[in-house]
Amino acid sequence: MSIDGRIAMKTGESKWITSKYARQDVQKFRAKSSVILSSSSTILTDNSLLNVRYKEFDKHTLSIFPKKIFQHPIRVIIDSQNRITPLHKIIQTQGKIWLIRLKYDQYLWPKHITQILRKEHDKQINMLSLLKLLGKSQINNVWIEAGSSLSGFLLNQNLIDELIIYIAPKMLGHEAKPLCILYNKLKLIDSLEFNFQDICQIGPDIRLILSPKKNKTII
Ligand SMILES: NC(=O)c1ccc[n+]([C@@H]2O[C@H](COP(=O)([O-])OP(=O)(O)OC[C@H]3O[C@@H](n4cnc5c(N)ncnc54)[C@H](OP(=O)(O)O)[C@@H]3O)[C@@H](O)[C@H]2O)c1
Repeated sequence: MSIDGRIAMKTGESKWITSKYARQDVQKFRAKSSVILSSSSTILTDNSLLNVRYKEFDKHTLSIFPKKIFQHPIRVIIDSQNRITPLHKIIQTQGKIWLIRLKYDQYLWPKHITQILRKEHDKQINMLSLLKLLGKSQINNVWIEAGSSLSGFLLNQNLIDELIIYIAPKMLGHEAKPLCILYNKLKLIDSLEFNFQDICQIGPDIRLILSPKKNKTII
């Protein structure tokens, strides 16, 4: 994000706010996760692949993730409106993809794509039922790359154990999209609080690792 806390322009344009060094660093976090969770909105806006570019790893990174034991994380995409189709670029990539939906569509999907139905909550996917499914599938390490709405919801519900933010020395202005949308935050006492766990410079950017201070469960 930018130093004024923005993750994309009003038009959705977000390539690229941070440097290639930050993006390479993200690759390592993706690689060590069991799941990469995102939304159809983010896929449709960015035409992103959300994959691990294993072939681009340098020697040091390859030594951390040896080919023999490396497994691509499952990409789990929330798609309540069945907006992802077989024509999207992400579908052409290797590795399992789970499309989380309220109903099946009519497409014939390649083998690595699975449509998974979840319960509805306010016409959206019931996130708690999705997280329970991941837990039951022994998936405990979920890397989330999402926009303002999904990130805001998960943060507000205290469903995030760790926040990793890359800050580029840029300002995008107040019309650009914020890191997260948080409702009902009218008083300072209602703010979400964090502890800094790590601060480091990655190329021209800063990487922050934070953990939530309060641990109250709202759901
Ligand atoms: N700079 C970055 O690192 C970065 C990273 C990711 C995204 N982005 C930017 O973020 C923008 C997209 O942001 P966005 O806010 O439109 O999308 P988003 O937050 O990624 O996803 C919104 C979608 O998530 C689902 N969702 C949100 N809240 C939910 C809830 N409470 N329960 C269940 N499902 C929920 C809904 O999916 P359904 O519609 O399927 O129900 C909703 O349409 C793009 O411009 C993208 O470039 C930037």
